[in-house]
Amino acid sequence: MNDNTIPTQLIQTLRTAKQVVVLTGAGISAESGVPTFRDAQTGLWAKYDPMDLATPEAFQRDPRLVWEWYTWRRELVAKAPPNLGHLALVNMQTYLPKFTLITQNVDGLHQRAGSQQVIELHGNLTRSKCVNEHIVDSWQTADELPPRCPHCEQILRPDVVWFGEFLQEQTLYKAMKTVEQCDLIFSVGTSSLVQPAASLPFIALEHGAKLVEINPDSTPLTPHVHFVLYGKSGAILPKLVDLTW
Ligand code: APR
Repeated sequence: MNDNTIPTQLIQTLRTAKQVVVLTGAGISAESGVPTFRDAQTGLWAKYDPMDLATPEAFQRDPRLVWEWYTWRRELVAKAPPNLGHLALVNMQTYLPKFTLITQNVDGLHQRAGSQQVIELHGNLTRSKCVNEHIVDSWQTADELPPRCPHCEQILRPDVVWFGEFLQEQTLYKAMKTVEQCDLIFSVGTSSLVQPAASLPFIALEHGAKLVEINPDSTPLTPHVHFVLYGKSGAILPKLVDLTW
């Protein structure tokens, strides 16, 4: 199957779906110029592996290094425009009676594209927090990095979920409840390797939902899906919306 082939049966299923969930990962932002986690980094950060920076241990070892990496990512994301894949999901929500977007991405591009009520499983890098859980989106620029919380003077860290950390309980609960109730779920641009996000499509399957994957490559989820659309989400999603409505 290539980018141009969208099964008629999938179009029918989407047209008549009562509750649709779309789970996205780093791949949906790739066409906006945001590297995926498993892409090699470029420039200044080429010698670092993201898996070694996005951990509580890395922050404990070298908070300044981790803070500076997030500053670089924050600036990269601020310059990145939402792409046709993000925009197609904004369109999709207008046609469906119940639509929920669940993302593993921390870049906020879905919201910038216009998606509403996005469940952010892994937080958002535009926000920061301190050990006392004050959430802040601005701070005094000082010589000291990471900067300190304006409320309690503790050092700030990005408000994201790092490898080895637990997801916020309420967020995960909401995501699980939503996938239990849907009749169609899309897994878009995710390697389906990171738990608990990777389990969400399986929960939907157990509750009788149809499952669609959009990705240029196969993933551990591929053998379980009803429809697989191999290709880039920025090409496939707009086509799917156009053909369906
Ligand atoms: N369109 C669709 N999918 C794409 C595209 C594209 N244009 N480009 C790449 N992909 C796919 C890749 O084939 C891969 O399967 O996107 C996936 C990206 O995988 P990861 O980098 O592992 O990202 P993700 O699955 O979101 O990672 C999950 O792990 O790194 C942590 O917390 C981080 O949220 C992240 C989580």
